Amino acid sequence: MVDFLNGAKRTCKCGELRASDIGKTVTVMGFVAKYRNLGNLLFIDLRDIAGVVQIAFDDQVDKAVFDKADTVRNEYVIAVTGVVRSRGSNINKNMPTGEIEILASDLKILSEAEVTPFVITEDMKVGEQLRLKYRYLDLRRSYLQQKLIMRDKITRVVRNYLADNGFLEIETPFLGKSTPEGARDYLVPSRVHNGEFYALPQSPQLYKQLLMIAGMDRYYQVARCFRDEDLRANRQPEFSQIDMEMSYVEDNEQVMEIAEGLIKKVFKECLGMELEEKFRRIPYSEAMNKWGSDKPDTRFDLQLHDLSAILKDCAFSVFAGAISGGGSVRAINGKGLCDKMTRKEVDACGEFVKSYGAKGLAYAMFREDGSVTSSVFKFLSEDEKQAVIKEMNAEKGDIVFFVADKNKVVYDSLGALRCYLADKYNLYDKSKFDFLWVVDFPLLEYDEEEKRYVAVHHPFTSAIVEDIPLLDTDPLKVRSNAYDMVINGQEAGGGSIRIHDWHMQEKIFGLLGFSQKDIEERFGFFVDAFKYGAPPHGGLAFGLDRLTMLVTGTDNIKDVIAFPKVQNASCLMTGAPAEVEDKQLKELAIKFDIKE
Ligand code: AMO
Ligand code: AMP
Repeated sequence: MVDFLNGAKRTCKCGELRASDIGKTVTVMGFVAKYRNLGNLLFIDLRDIAGVVQIAFDDQVDKAVFDKADTVRNEYVIAVTGVVRSRGSNINKNMPTGEIEILASDLKILSEAEVTPFVITEDMKVGEQLRLKYRYLDLRRSYLQQKLIMRDKITRVVRNYLADNGFLEIETPFLGKSTPEGARDYLVPSRVHNGEFYALPQSPQLYKQLLMIAGMDRYYQVARCFRDEDLRANRQPEFSQIDMEMSYVEDNEQVMEIAEGLIKKVFKECLGMELEEKFRRIPYSEAMNKWGSDKPDTRFDLQLHDLSAILKDCAFSVFAGAISGGGSVRAINGKGLCDKMTRKEVDACGEFVKSYGAKGLAYAMFREDGSVTSSVFKFLSEDEKQAVIKEMNAEKGDIVFFVADKNKVVYDSLGALRCYLADKYNLYDKSKFDFLWVVDFPLLEYDEEEKRYVAVHHPFTSAIVEDIPLLDTDPLKVRSNAYDMVINGQEAGGGSIRIHDWHMQEKIFGLLGFSQKDIEERFGFFVDAFKYGAPPHGGLAFGLDRLTMLVTGTDNIKDVIAFPKVQNASCLMTGAPAEVEDKQLKELAIKFDIKE
């Protein structure tokens, strides 16, 4: 039999009580985290969102209450009234409430609990699968609760900041038309229009631009986005953006300033960090050349060096061939890592870069005794070797890694290898933050598979004015008015100044290979809207989940989402996605063609 609250009201939260509350009569409510019966004294640790407090039941004080407390088990939900008293010499310094306990005079059992599939403690070692199946139990842990509390705080700081800067929070539809954002859409079949589908938004991009055309001036939204893409550590199929757009801006800096102010505010309010300096602006080409990535982590060195000029005529055909084929040979210097790395670890690096498309990883190990062990030096002339050593500033104790390939492969593999090495050999202070902007991205890249240009960001990104003539002569050289904010080597957010002239928009669609018919069918409504007056505008979107990960210091995106999905995009708790009833399929006129 459980009790009704019967008018009882909570007076404070468990975790809030301190020595200054001694003598007060309080009523607390929560989950039983632990109980132990010492014969005539019984202790319960009671847990709520604010923390844990110890409750004491004394059979001398009230035998009936004591006996009732003895029936309580872990995870029962109870309400306790009693007086706060000092723990005397039994202070527990590890608990914020450790100086006090509540001597119970009344106990209500509000809900009984069966034995849980795992004992809920902060340091439990339970597999992720089981924890995700019973996510609501895992969420009772302070570790996860603190992350969601911080997420709420970030969102509140963001809302206040944007409201103070004249942005209006406006919701846009979930059921819409496909937005070309690059990932696969989640589709929702229409019952009323059989054979037709809504697409869940990959981002509110088109809507927010239409809101500028509608004269809404400045918009923002904490927007849920859906992308059917392969999941990685920092991706989820549904995630949240802090999405914003503003009118009457033509210069990147106007949007970047607002966005940078937002991040500074979040770090100040949430972590007490004063970020006074302006974030660095790094051109895309410099980011790629120095760090092999458009989201570089610059907390550690390990910069890429282009050795192509030195090695273009060398006797190692793999190197010379890569260079003559339009690629390059580049290298990084693992300073002081030579003797820290075993042969096996060097080989592991070779395997690591293969997953980025590299065909091999050459190395040169500069031993303390002055000797050099290298897989490629034997192919190089003395002059070439000396020039490499000079360019790489290679000294005793260093290990230099080389990759020769098409530039993309060289960048991807060495860019990733430098992060791998820095992480594995603790080459930097992981508690530090590294904020920067990457700017001057190329507008277009060439997709070898589709044999056409594709937008590096999205098709609505404008070109840097001085590069516009190149659209007709050398489109790959055109830089865009796009910017990405990178924090600790992660893309925290990105955006651009948009095209607001429909002639230019049509030109870009044309370069991307869309026919007039494609444009009409896919974005006719959008292009039309620009014909009725469009303010110059631009904006950006931050990944709220990624921002929360950075602020809370976790590298697992699931930690900051209440009900996350796993690698194969399913929800282990609800079992989604799941089959539906035939009746529903019939209404939607859907028939499957699945081979068993
Ligand atoms: P973009 O595609 O760069 O830009 O997305 C903006 C930010 O959203 C976050 N993000 C994700 N977070 C978690 N899981 C995912 N699968 C995921 N995908 C993206 C990243 C990213 O920086 N409409 C444009 C913005 C604009 O131009 O204004 C857009 O969506 O942190
Ligand atoms: P091999 O002569 O094939 O044994 O190669 C000699 C060394 O060059 C080995 O350490 C290979 O891993 C390395 N290597 C092979 N291909 C490449 C490449 N494309 N870039 C860098 N190193 C390579």
